[in-house]
Amino acid sequence: MSGAHVMNHKHFLQFRDFTADEFDYLFARTRVIKDRFKRYEKHHPLADRTLVMIFEKASTRTRLSFEAGMQQLGGAAIYLNTRDSQLGRGEPVEDAAQVISRMCDIVMIRTFEQDIIERFASHSRVPVINGLTNEYHPCQILADIFTFIEHRGPIAGKTVTWIGDSNNVCNTWLQAAELLDFNVHVSTPPGYEVEPERAGLFGTSHFEEFPDPIEACRSADLVTTDVWTSMGFEAENDERRRAFADWCVDADMMRVARPEALFMHCLPAHRGEEVTAEVIDGPQSVVWDEAENRLHAQKALMEYLLLGRLEG
Ligand code: CP
Ligand code: NVA
Repeated sequence: MSGAHVMNHKHFLQFRDFTADEFDYLFARTRVIKDRFKRYEKHHPLADRTLVMIFEKASTRTRLSFEAGMQQLGGAAIYLNTRDSQLGRGEPVEDAAQVISRMCDIVMIRTFEQDIIERFASHSRVPVINGLTNEYHPCQILADIFTFIEHRGPIAGKTVTWIGDSNNVCNTWLQAAELLDFNVHVSTPPGYEVEPERAGLFGTSHFEEFPDPIEACRSADLVTTDVWTSMGFEAENDERRRAFADWCVDADMMRVARPEALFMHCLPAHRGEEVTAEVIDGPQSVVWDEAENRLHAQKALMEYLLLGRLEG
């Protein structure tokens, strides 16, 4: 193979990289993989395969779920970070992609701009998975929607309310709504509204913006939020704490949602900022299932990217 661009692999760089039909397969497959795991059944379809995980930002859940997940599928996982690899010393991302993808079977990257992961993928010989960028967090929403389905059935036609920053996780919910045909009610402080182009949306048909967070929560099937300041935006922290003070998911917001509404948070959470302890530790919260499902959903994702659709 020459050093030219290699683009014949399927990647998962943003949610809309997959079709609704592929998501249906992945949710069903996640169920199978989770059930087998709970029964302690050995499932090693990725024996001798190697995952390389590149982290340019901190992580607990993403690292653990990918590393444990790959081991449970019979493969191996290698952790690289910016600090002690050549990535932090200015090696071009295209060169890194050429080299790394010759030594492994699949790559997961957590980085800053989406452009970095796009450039990596366009020079990679193997599938690349987005483990969070400034713009998107597709693995999170894969697990979140699986979690919704697990608790409440199909998500099509439902209303998901997003409270807070129109960040990477919000953008991904918005892409998912277009693909899987549900609605998102978004409430952000002024100046932090959704940017449809940055969110990678086809249009504005599947979301509505509400200046008042209480109104956004009315009749919601799921209320979700995230930190006020995402990784990489720490310099804006003081300004954001002032701007977001009224965008804290509390019992009043959950009261106007449907009685069976769920609460989700990708974690890590800050009780007393974006959510009260009463809500995140309350009966409607499914945050621990949501976190656990990262493991099962990403195992289905890696299996699919490397082996295609499997039965049984
Ligand atoms: N939700 C999530 O991606 O968590 P980590 O930052 O711990 O990976
Ligand atoms: N929006 C958050 C998600 C962390 C999992 C961030 O980017 O820091």
